[in-house]
Order: sequence, then structure tokens, then C-alpha cells
Amino acid sequence: MAQKSTVPVIRSRKVADGADPLVMLTAYDAPGARMVDEAGADLILVGDSVAMVVLGYEDTLQVTVADIAHHTAAVARTRPSALVVADMPWMSYHVSVEDTLRNAAELVRAGGQAVKLEGGRQRLPMVEALIDAEIPVMGHIGLTPQSVNAMGGFKVQGRDTQAVLKLVAEAKALAHAGCFALVLEGVPDRVAAMVTDSVDIPTIGIGAGPACDGQVLVFHDVLGIERRILPRFVRRYADLHTTAVEALSGFAADVRSGAFPGEHESYHLSDDVADELGLCGAA
Ligand code: KIV
Repeated sequence: MAQKSTVPVIRSRKVADGADPLVMLTAYDAPGARMVDEAGADLILVGDSVAMVVLGYEDTLQVTVADIAHHTAAVARTRPSALVVADMPWMSYHVSVEDTLRNAAELVRAGGQAVKLEGGRQRLPMVEALIDAEIPVMGHIGLTPQSVNAMGGFKVQGRDTQAVLKLVAEAKALAHAGCFALVLEGVPDRVAAMVTDSVDIPTIGIGAGPACDGQVLVFHDVLGIERRILPRFVRRYADLHTTAVEALSGFAADVRSGAFPGEHESYHLSDDVADELGLCGAA
């Protein structure tokens, strides 16, 4: 069994210091967590992307703390070697420090070993309070999906000088506040390189090019389970949607033709009991 990933070990994983890039994948249930862990991921993110790839919503704004706690508990029950990071839903860390702590505690009690939250400077008081309460925090800047309405869509961020300098400043502030790692989403590759060079905690990119200290993708995208959209930054390693539809169609055809269930997929009475009941012939 692989060695258990811990927050201090993840925090020390800078590629510039000779570390291998970190691997993070999302998972939302026990079978998914087992697959991700068996594949050797360093971190499992119980992402609020569950809203879009599992629950059928158009954005991530619909999930609640109870939803993420429910999925985090399913992942944590598998006791993975990977570190379990629970995503804080929209509005669970925006209202007050007290509210943030209470919501994060619910996710930790569900099995999260760290929480992730989106945003920069405006979230610093919440980040500091969580770290004071010894709840490890992963930051998330750049294209922050919970800001979809404020951003006017899921748009690449950090395209002009001012925006780039703001991203670098936010990364430094989050690292200084005590975040143990930082997700960089939807930013140009050279911006991700600048941010990565400017902080001593690992950056984990998604749509941020190869210069980050690690990469994260969504489980359903990697496996080709979710096929509605294919963002440029996704690489599909399987087409499980097609494989699954073929398998399910095979079942439907066998049921309709009477080929399922067969002899070996049925239970049988003993001959003695069948005789006593007056049942004759095969079955
Ligand atoms: O919810 C999620 O899956 C995420 C990743 C895309 C980083 O936040």
C-alpha cells in the first residue's frame, strides 16, 4: 500500500526543489475514490464540480455544505492513501469567519483532511481563521468557477498586465496566510510559471500549462464519462461513456431476446423438493 499523503509532505513538493509533480484528481464516491487512489494520485479533491458532472446542474453554485459532506464521507470511507480535500461550496465561506469555521468543521468531520476555497485577498480573514483552527487550506485563484456570474462566464483570467500582477500578489498573500497549496485554474502558461516561481508552496494547475508543481483534472473528464463539453485543457484517457452504453445496450438486448438470465445466472430448487412439489421437467 502506498504511503499516506499528508499536508506537510504535499506542502514541500516544489518541482524547482526536485520534487515530482503532484497528481490530483476529483472523486465523489467510494468506487471513484478507490480508482483514483489505486492509480496513485497524491490528492483526491471532492470538488464542487460534483454539481455539474454528477448532479446535472449548469454551474457549481447549487451545491451545499451538506452535499459536499455527503460525498466527502463516501470518499473518506475508502481510507485512501491520497490526501482528501473537501471543496467549500459557494456562500459557505463568504458571510463571516464563524460561519466559515462551522462549515469547514462539518467537512472535516465528514472526513476531509483539508478544505479548498476560491478567491484571493477578500478571503484572507477566512483563510487565516481556518489555519488558526488547524484546518489546512488549499487556495484556488484564476478562473474561479464560483465567480461565473461576476466573470461573465467561464473565462481565462490573467490576460493583461494588471491582472497578472494581481494574481501574483494574491498567490503570495494566500501562501503567506498559510495555504499549503494553490490551485491555478484557467490562466496563460507563462502567468502560471510566474505565480509558481513566486510562492514556496506547490501550485496545482488546471488549464494553466505545464509549469505548475502539479496538475488536477475532473474524474469524469479524464475517463470520458461526461461528454457534454470538452474544454481545451482536458485530455481524455478513456471513452467510458461509449463503453458503458455498449454494455448497457447488450443487457437490454439480452433481456428482450430472453438470453438473460441463463442457467448459471439463476438459482435452482433441489430435485427432491421439486418432486415433492410435483414440479416436473427442467427449471
Ligand atoms: O471542483 C473542482 O473539481 C475543482 C477543480 C477543477 C480544481 O475545483
